[in-house]
Parts: sequence; structure tokens; C-alpha cells
Amino acid sequence: MNMVELIQKKKDGETLTREELVFFIRGVSDDTIPDYQTSALLMAICFQGLDKEETFALTDAMLASGDVIDLSALPGVKVDKHSTGGVGDKTSLIVAPLAAACGVTVAKMSGRGLGFSGGTIDKLEAIPGFRVQLSEEEFIAAVQTSGMAIIGQTADVAPADKKLYALRDVTATVDNVSLISASIMSKKLASGSQAIVLDVKCGSGAFMKTEKAARELGALMVEIGKNAGKTTVALITDMDQPLGRAVGNSLEVSEACETLQGNGPADIQELCLSLAGHMIFAGGKAQTPEEGKKMAEEALSSGAAFETLKRFVKAQGGDISVLSDPSGFKQALHSAPCIAKSDGYVSQIEADRIGLASQHLGAGRKTKDDSIDLSAGLVLEKKVGDPVKKGDTLAVLSADDPEKLKLGIQETGEAFVIGENRPEPRPLIHAVLS
Ligand code: URA
Repeated sequence: MNMVELIQKKKDGETLTREELVFFIRGVSDDTIPDYQTSALLMAICFQGLDKEETFALTDAMLASGDVIDLSALPGVKVDKHSTGGVGDKTSLIVAPLAAACGVTVAKMSGRGLGFSGGTIDKLEAIPGFRVQLSEEEFIAAVQTSGMAIIGQTADVAPADKKLYALRDVTATVDNVSLISASIMSKKLASGSQAIVLDVKCGSGAFMKTEKAARELGALMVEIGKNAGKTTVALITDMDQPLGRAVGNSLEVSEACETLQGNGPADIQELCLSLAGHMIFAGGKAQTPEEGKKMAEEALSSGAAFETLKRFVKAQGGDISVLSDPSGFKQALHSAPCIAKSDGYVSQIEADRIGLASQHLGAGRKTKDDSIDLSAGLVLEKKVGDPVKKGDTLAVLSADDPEKLKLGIQETGEAFVIGENRPEPRPLIHAVLS
């Protein structure tokens, strides 16, 4: 077997065998295949696609390139949740405690943010003292203490994906549904849970801009999960405007805490209760996702989910005082409003531009080695459908650097579209694929 043959075959639209894909991923992992041949095959895949069997085989090979976390010491069905990412997406910080408070075991690995979408690990690092790197033993012990734990992905999980993704990023080969599905699912399958709830976002602030593309990705990931023997469900959810009101790391942790205390924005509360309902059902603690959602509502209103959040943060070394009192977070040095220039209704808030604004403020990374300012960000005062008058505050922005603040305000102003008529509301959940 050699790479030239594989590249030629895929370039000609032929199907690669499981053995050929294993050869490819082994060669990527042990550096025996040079980057130029890997890139050529990735480009041929982008043009010719992979069929379902090829996608399953690629995922399996990527999964086998590293370790699979052994969660067998933990009780019950372990349920993972993954979001394809968006602007203001702090759902993991809310959904995991909701599900864990209802008896579901959640042992989750998460990533850092890149581009306009934030990462759960960055958000957790905004909590003073919180440890995102735990050994496997510490990870299991943390779940045993509080029913849940969230840590950063270890280097041993699907290492082939790390190499492939770095090449895809610089060869314009990210946007292929099979490559994306294999990348995400190899990491999820390696994380060791038996059930996976996927939140596939669509809209201007998402990786997949259209509902059609998000459905295609969600359906393929569900098939991969099922093929691997995991209970898998995908919710196709809206990311055309930022989720909730807060964008930026410590601001989003505060909003997650407010939500778990019953004072969160309606959209984030509704989405999190639905996602938690699916996790509770997948974990065998409810007969239906609807019953799971009711259980999550009770865990929210009784305060049980917020108590679970506190136990989880404490078990991972975090200062729990900031969860009830956000003044304990490091505060940005400067803040200023973005002001409406006309009367009307908010007809659109371009989520990707709000993501860019938060990057300008210092809350997000442009490249993966950038450092970020955990206190920077913005809070939306208006959401789509709200009436506005000229001079109203659309959002309040915070940053340490006044120049960054200026840039953020300009970008935020351009993200808001004010129209004469109130727009029709978009559904929060477009579809459930299982
Ligand atoms: N997220 C991933 O983890 N992989 C992709 O390919 C795209 C998004």
C-alpha cells in the first residue's frame, strides 16, 4: 500500500477500504506520511467525499490512534454532551449540573475556544483555582464526589485528529461533513461515555451556517455513534443570534450561575432544559426526553442543580464564592455601552460579528496560541425582537485596553440590524435526530 495510490484512487472517485484508511491514519500518527501527501488526500476527500462506511472506518482509525478513557469504575450510564460551538454558548456549564443532579453520571472532556466561538475549558479557567487538567484517577474521583467532572482533553485522546486538524486548518479542508464528523466523533468515542447528546448549531454564529448543513452533520454523527454502539442523539439548534446575553469567559460563567439559580435568559434556560432532558433520558433516569426535561426543571427550581455545580467546582479546586457573587471575578478595567443609532426593532444580531467583537475585546483567540483576557466580553441588553429607541444601550462591553474596547463597540454596532417591523421569532430547536 502506498499513499500515491490512495490519493489517486480518491481523486478518481473510488472508495477507500478500511485497511487503506487504517494505513493512512497510522502513517499520520507515526509521521511516516509527509504533510504534502496527507494534504493531497484530504483535498481529494473534500472533492470526492467519503461514503458512510469510509467515514465509519476513518473515525475508528482516528479513535484507535490514542487512548480510550476507562469510565467503568463509575456507576450507571455515563452520558456525554457536545456542542459544535457558537457565540455565548455556555450550555455545558448548565446542562451537566442539571443532568448530574438528576442522577446521570457526566464525565466530560471539553476544548478551548478558537475563532469566534468560546470553549468550556476557557470559561472554567475564569473561576479562580479551577483545575482543568486532572489525572485519570483524579478525574474519576471528582465524578465520584459530585456526579460530574469536566476536564480539558488530554493529548492521548485521538492524537491523529490533532495532526489532521492542524493541516486541515491551513489547507482549506475543514469543511467536509465526513472529516468534521470523524474528527468530533473520534474524540467523543474516546472519552468513554455510553451515550452522547450532540448540540449541532446552525446560523451565522455556527460552524454550519444553514439548517440543511447542520442536519447533514447531525445525522452523520448520530450514525457514527450508533455504529460504535453508543446511544446518540443530535439536536439541531439555533445560533443565528448569540445564546443568552453574555459573551466572554467570566461573564458567561456568571450567566450560567444565574441560570442555575432560576434567573437566566429565557433562550438559554429553555435550550439547557431540553438538552438535559435528553441526557437524563439517555442515562436511563427518565422514560422519555420530556419526562427528563421535567426532572431537569425540578432540579433547577429546587436549587439541586446549582448545589451540584458548587460541588463540582469545589471538587476541581475552584473558588465557589464567585458562583454566588460575580464581583469575585477579576473585573475588566474599562467598560462602555454600544448605543442604538435609530428607532425600531432588533431584527438581527449577527452572531459571528458579536463573536468577532468579543475577540477584539480580548475574550477570544485568533490563533490557537493566543492568550485571552478572561474578564473581557459583552452583555447584550437587547435581543432579536426587542423594541429600541435611538440612544438605548444595545450592549455593555468590557476590556482592559481602551483601544480594544473601541474596536469591540464598532463591531457590535455593526452586528445589530434595526428594522421597522418586529421579526418572526426563529425556533430555538429546529429538529431532533436520533
Ligand atoms: N470541531 C472539531 O472538533 N473538528 C472539526 O473538524 C470541526 C469542528
